[in-house]
Amino acid sequence: MRPDGRPSGSGDPEQARVFFALWPDAAAAAALQTLAQDCAREFGGRAGRCETLHLTLAFVGDVPLERLSVLREVAGAVTAPAGELCLDRLGFWAHNRILWAGTRAVPPELGQLVRRLGAGLKTAGAAGTAGGGRSFVPHVTLVRKLAGPVGPLPEWAPVRWVWRSFVLVRSRLSAAGAAYETLGQWPLAA
Ligand code: 2AM
Repeated sequence: MRPDGRPSGSGDPEQARVFFALWPDAAAAAALQTLAQDCAREFGGRAGRCETLHLTLAFVGDVPLERLSVLREVAGAVTAPAGELCLDRLGFWAHNRILWAGTRAVPPELGQLVRRLGAGLKTAGAAGTAGGGRSFVPHVTLVRKLAGPVGPLPEWAPVRWVWRSFVLVRSRLSAAGAAYETLGQWPLAA
């Protein structure tokens, strides 16, 4: 088990720990990294790196490698519009000690994408949750391993993020943190 109570992944070479996500473009990723570093400076914890910051749509978990083709088929069948997010809200969760950026107004396009992907995964018999059993709160984890609750960040600018595709990502966990590999990318209607 990981310190946050989540399973650490099987380490089985025949399995992959995977999730679907929105991945930020370079400008949004850089802005999020700066925000993550500012938060870590102010409150402690470990800031996420530019190349790892993302918004999870559906966490699938460990799947046998031969099931990846099923996940790709599910993703390929999803039709949903592209959209735009404004990350204008910071939050802290005590259960996994993360500080995250979210939005006050969840765009309907994001809700559609999450619902359609989730429905496709369910039909295919694959688990897919972005909330670990909790209700879905779209968020980008900025800082991990925070000691405690955080106060307001003195000054920060909301991050605008336009998304036009979504990705399937493999996560490999180690003491240094998670390393991510993109396994597939699917465009969304403009
Ligand atoms: P988090 O950032 O809030 O930890 C890869 O682990 C991604 O899947 C992370 O964005 C993580 O969210 C998300 N995720 C959602 N549910 C998860 C779960 N039950 N276990 C691990 N990661 C989960």
